[in-house]
Amino acid sequence: MRPRHLVLVGLMGSGKSTVARRLARNLGLVLVDLDARVEQCAGCTIATLFAQQGEAAFRDLESQMLTEALASAVPSVVATGGGVVVRPGNRDALTRSSRGRVVWLDAAPEVLATRVTGTAATRPLLADDPTAALTRLDAERRAWYDEVADLRIDTAGRSLDDVVDTVEAWWRAQCDQSQGGEAR
Ligand code: S3P
Repeated sequence: MRPRHLVLVGLMGSGKSTVARRLARNLGLVLVDLDARVEQCAGCTIATLFAQQGEAAFRDLESQMLTEALASAVPSVVATGGGVVVRPGNRDALTRSSRGRVVWLDAAPEVLATRVTGTAATRPLLADDPTAALTRLDAERRAWYDEVADLRIDTAGRSLDDVVDTVEAWWRAQCDQSQGGEAR
């Protein structure tokens, strides 16, 4: 079946939002940013949502936004939040969606920590020590990213252009392959 949504997963600092924006533009797809949708729906920032209602309330909205994004008929590039893989229901939705393809932007926690400098105020899970937080989250989530991903890209030492080009070429091949399959 021809894929409709290109979904990016990975830890905070992996470049999902930036890469998604570029891919959406190059591929002529709509950009869906799940964090932005959560904030829109909640009517406040993620930091405020965490502080006032707790992480579970954030995760509920995140699951709802993911379900809606995958169900949409509008072809899109979906930038997820780093914790989208935490809930088993989300992992199921990502692996079972025949219309979605998932790309994992991977990098070591030490590399990611250099990219999230100064963003702890907007990312409640980073706290005072981003390297320690990212190391813990990487250990918790690595197997889950692996479980949902159709493609893993190690972004360490690669330019943004290189990452975008690689995903773009892979996506085009996915679409071509499925077209061939449907024609037969
Ligand atoms: C989170 C990552 C954030 C955001 C929230 C929780 C996580 O998104 O969804 O702060 O659990 O890793 P980014 O990965 O886009 O920073």
